[in-house]
Order: sequence, then C-alpha cells, then structure tokens
Amino acid sequence: MATYDQIGDAYDLVYPDTGDRVPFVAKVLKNFGKQTVLELGIGSGLFAIPLTKSGLNVEGLEISEVMLDVMRKKAPDLNAYQGDIRDFSLGKQYEAVLALSSILVLLKDQQEIKRCLRCVYEHLEPEGLLLLELPNHPVEIAQSNNSQEVFSNDGNGTVVVIQSGVEGEFWTETWHILKRDGDGFSYENVLCRELICPPETLIEQIKEAGFGVIEEYGDLLGSPFDAESSWRRVLICRKNGVTA
Ligand SMILES: C[S@@+](CC[C@H](N)C(=O)[O-])C[C@H]1O[C@@H](n2cnc3c(N)ncnc32)[C@H](O)[C@@H]1O
Repeated sequence: MATYDQIGDAYDLVYPDTGDRVPFVAKVLKNFGKQTVLELGIGSGLFAIPLTKSGLNVEGLEISEVMLDVMRKKAPDLNAYQGDIRDFSLGKQYEAVLALSSILVLLKDQQEIKRCLRCVYEHLEPEGLLLLELPNHPVEIAQSNNSQEVFSNDGNGTVVVIQSGVEGEFWTETWHILKRDGDGFSYENVLCRELICPPETLIEQIKEAGFGVIEEYGDLLGSPFDAESSWRRVLICRKNGVTA
C-alpha cells in the first residue's frame, strides 16, 4: 500500500490554500509558452485541476490508487496514469513537467532522485521545462522542528494533527487522522518522510541530469528566494538549458 493511500481523503483538509499558488504556476507555464504538462504525484489534483481549467493540457502520474480516486471524483476527465515517478515510460513527451509539494525529496535517496530525473528528461521535449518546488529544510527545521499543527473540518468529522521533526537524514511528518466512524471514531497514523538533502547536491544532480536552472523563487507566489528565510525553493529548469 502506498503511503498516501492512508492519507487520501484527509489530504485536501490540510492544504486548503493551494489555490493561492496555482496562478504563479500557470503564469510560468504560459510565459514560457508551455501547454502540455505532466504533473508528477498529481495527488488529489489541487494544482492540476485548476491548471486544466485555466486552459492548460495537464496529465498526471500518481502511485496511490486512493489519491487517484479522490482526484477522479473531482475531475473525471483529467487523464492520470498510475505509476511510479522513479521508473515510468508513458511513450510520449510533454512541454513541461511539474514536481510540486516537495515530491522529489519524498524519494528515499539520491539514486532514486537520479532515476526520477532521468525519466523526466526522457518525457520532456527539447527545451522542455521542469518546475520543481523543493523544501528549504534549514529554515523549515529551524522554525518548526518538533512542532504540531491541527486541521479540522467540523462538517465531515475529520481531525488531522501533523507532528513534524527531524529523524536522522529525514524530515518527518506524522499524520494522526481521527475520523467519525458510525457512533465512534477511527484513528490511524501515517509517517511521511522527506529526504534532507543539501540544496547544492540537488542542484548538481539536476544539472547532471541535463537541465539548466534558469530561474529561482522562494515560494509558489513568486517571492525571491532567500536562503535564510524562505521555506521553499522553487527552481525553474530547462532541458538542455543554460544555467543563469
Ligand atoms: C505531497 S503530495 C502532492 C500532491 C500534489 N502534487 C499537490 O501538490 O497537491 C505527494 C504525492 O506524490 C505521490 N507520490 C509519492 N511518491 C510517489 C512515487 N514514487 N511515484 C508516484 N507518485 C508518488 C503521493 O502518493 C502523493 O499523492
């Protein structure tokens, strides 16, 4: 069972503000003239569905059957493949690939990241764009190590508590999910891990995979990246591009 199979129907509760970040992604794709897009780990479609509505032709790749079901209930016509970003072959190329919400560091080590980047390269047209949203772990860890956040929706009786902290080489989020179940409640906890990877190492890997980093931002609102304060690191990379 994929990790996100256990999270699927609680996922949207935790990310109610994703819509705020969609316009920036749409703007980047449109500015670079990209129309056909593959989103790695499309999840419940929080980005892909509104991007499709904005006129882009988006498809998805996703390992979790449950996440795919959640997405398909909202957008039955959106084409998504069930598969693994570490090893996929869809037999086609796209003008852009999205790797949002830290998906690259959900992989367990540098070898897996390398395999994923190789597949991305194969699925991009020449001059194709890779838009990567990564964590800026030093800031996130300094500000929220051993913290917890609570998300609830009185309407459907679900409460999610997420505890975050460093465990060895991983930044972990433990999701405690409490759901109304008949007259009682069900409870489960799910561990999600992000590889803590020095940004320079990642950038080196991206370049080795055949991409140039052409723009960098501190979030998906388009703020400038500041190593000391940005929680995110957004890299816009071009296949066979020239590094800025
Ligand atoms: C943090 S969620 C992001 C979902 C969506 N991209 C968003 O930003 O709302 C990560 C998604 O990637 C999927 N995922 C994780 N590892 C994967 C893999 N190896 N192959 C394909 N999908 C994967 C998970 O199942 C989950 O739906």
